Amino acid sequence: MLYSLLKTLHVLGVVALVGNVVVTLAWKLAADRTGEPRVIAFGQRLVTLTDWWFTVGGVVLIAIGGYGAAWVAGLDPLGPHWLLWGQGLFVLSGALWAGLLIPTQIRQARQARDFAAGGDIPASYWRDARRWVFWGVIAIGPLLGAVWLMIAKPA
Ligand code: HEM
Repeated sequence: MLYSLLKTLHVLGVVALVGNVVVTLAWKLAADRTGEPRVIAFGQRLVTLTDWWFTVGGVVLIAIGGYGAAWVAGLDPLGPHWLLWGQGLFVLSGALWAGLLIPTQIRQARQARDFAAGGDIPASYWRDARRWVFWGVIAIGPLLGAVWLMIAKPA
């Protein structure tokens, strides 16, 4: 019962995290394509908010549920390959997020505050927007890999 509860929390965390990163990419691209400063600034503010709610919330649920379930089942987190590599991919994606995506988002958010009232969007914002999409797509890869590993559990 406790195991199922922890695994449910874990999977809810995966849904929140993976769902948020994929969907945010889609609607942020759509907002940017309007070229409308107020819409883009609003979208940028939501990127920050949804990151706190769903990305950080998802990571917390994944960690509590994943390590909790492993502990209840008597699984060594450094034992089975699927579990070890799943954690490795999780950390890799987190490193891309913390090292490349977050600094880019912070710069974008600062610039968006300046043009939120309808000013010009500087070229540096668009450079950061392209960089954010590029690394965002790359950072999703390891998460999808972790989903596959956790489900297929190859030996
Ligand atoms: C913090 C590192 C992680 C730990 C310690 C961990 C641990 C676990 C454990 C113990 C299970 C239960 C396996 C079973 O009942 O057979 C599980 C299931 C699962 N994990 Fe993770 N996990 C981690 C990260 C991730 C990540 C990053 C993802 C995907 C983004 C993920 C996706 C899943 C999925 C979809 C399941 C359900 C698989 C199934 O029931 O067949 N996990 N995880």
